[in-house]
Amino acid sequence: MALRLNCKYLEGFVSENEVKELAPEIAAAHGFLYENREQAVGNGYHGWLTLPEDYDKTEFGRIKAAARKVISDSQALVVIGIGGSYLGARAAIEFVKSKNYNLTAKDTPKIFFLGNSLSPTEITEIADYCRGCDFSVNVISKSGTTTEPAVAFRVFRKLLEEKYGKAEAAKRIYVTTDKAKGTLKALADREGYEEFVVPDNVGGRYSVLTAVGLLPIACAGVDIDALMAGAADAMRQYAVPSLEENDCYKYAAIRNILYRKGKSIELAVCYEPDYTMMNEWFKQLFGESEGKDGKGLFPASVIYSTDLHSLGQYVQEGRRLMFETVVDFRTPKRDLIIEEDPDNADGLNFLTGRGMAFINKRAFEGTALAHTDGGVPNIVIEADAMDEYDLGRLIYFFEKACAISGYVLGVNPFNQPGVESYKKNMFALIGKPGYEELADELKKRLG
Ligand code: PA5
Repeated sequence: MALRLNCKYLEGFVSENEVKELAPEIAAAHGFLYENREQAVGNGYHGWLTLPEDYDKTEFGRIKAAARKVISDSQALVVIGIGGSYLGARAAIEFVKSKNYNLTAKDTPKIFFLGNSLSPTEITEIADYCRGCDFSVNVISKSGTTTEPAVAFRVFRKLLEEKYGKAEAAKRIYVTTDKAKGTLKALADREGYEEFVVPDNVGGRYSVLTAVGLLPIACAGVDIDALMAGAADAMRQYAVPSLEENDCYKYAAIRNILYRKGKSIELAVCYEPDYTMMNEWFKQLFGESEGKDGKGLFPASVIYSTDLHSLGQYVQEGRRLMFETVVDFRTPKRDLIIEEDPDNADGLNFLTGRGMAFINKRAFEGTALAHTDGGVPNIVIEADAMDEYDLGRLIYFFEKACAISGYVLGVNPFNQPGVESYKKNMFALIGKPGYEELADELKKRLG
């Protein structure tokens, strides 16, 4: 079954006519991805568009073989990367397996994600754990020069070499980086680490279906064939140029209409905690793609009903800044039937025989109605199950919606110039050679 866009909770906020009026802009955006690609900003970063079919099959086989080796010789895998080199893999593992994957994994290694912060506490905690078990490392960096993963890799490479010796350590290090350039590539070549490639034409936040995401995902025992199959079906389905027949384009149109009507926040919503990291992935995808030139929706996220008891108050009655995009799954991974309690001290016997999935669904419906009554439009994307196939579909759906939406907004959805500003200041303040002048200026400002 396909994903479905449910517009029932948009009544009074966005009309069918308004969506139709956006057809020429959507058609132009579609053209930037297909026939008029040469004129598009960000041309050169469209590789994700055909990736579900057009990927390196030999490397895909090597990914599976590497995953089998990691599963057989490691109790832990340390995945080192940040941003697009981190979020997709973690999101996919938690989506398909569990938010508590490290507690529930039986036949696959625990997976720790590091190099996505500069917290010494986090690194030393996992380093201490790894000293006591067999482990491997997958370091991921497209540029090969990002500080956060580079620092973490230095620590874990040393740990591996101390534990296993240089030669055996080299067999436990998997490097995912550029095919030709960067410090990490040079190091991998020199040390003979197994290498996987981040394709030139796929940007970090669009790279989950390359080795960047696929190797850690496969190490968690997730079926990457089914993942790619879901993405490939979505690729075919959402290639249709007609706005009326393309839910992905409709979603892109609706969020632009709401933006033009004054909404400034898109709140990504799900009622499944295992979706938490997918929300994080979504926030990076849309935030880095659209937030530039003084434009763009601010992507935020919640998990309900958890956050109905925190941010829910604001959503219901605070400033009318936002709309919600809900991903609703028809079937949960598991259900739990409420049993009769002879005491009925909690008064819940009226739920006897009901599944918790039933209650969760009613919570969603009740919340959607309450929030729309409160002036918060709800876009609903319906999916069937939290499995590999639907995950592939969702990933592709959001990637394409983001690209189309960014072009409609009038920005380059594939660059992230703003990310450099903090890096320059950080380099100056930590004393990186070449940043001395900036360092003097910043130190004066800091006092
Ligand atoms: O989407 C992006 O391009 C960024 O978020 C990058 O993924 C992130 O900055 C990490 O970069 P790199 O993979 O070069 O270490």
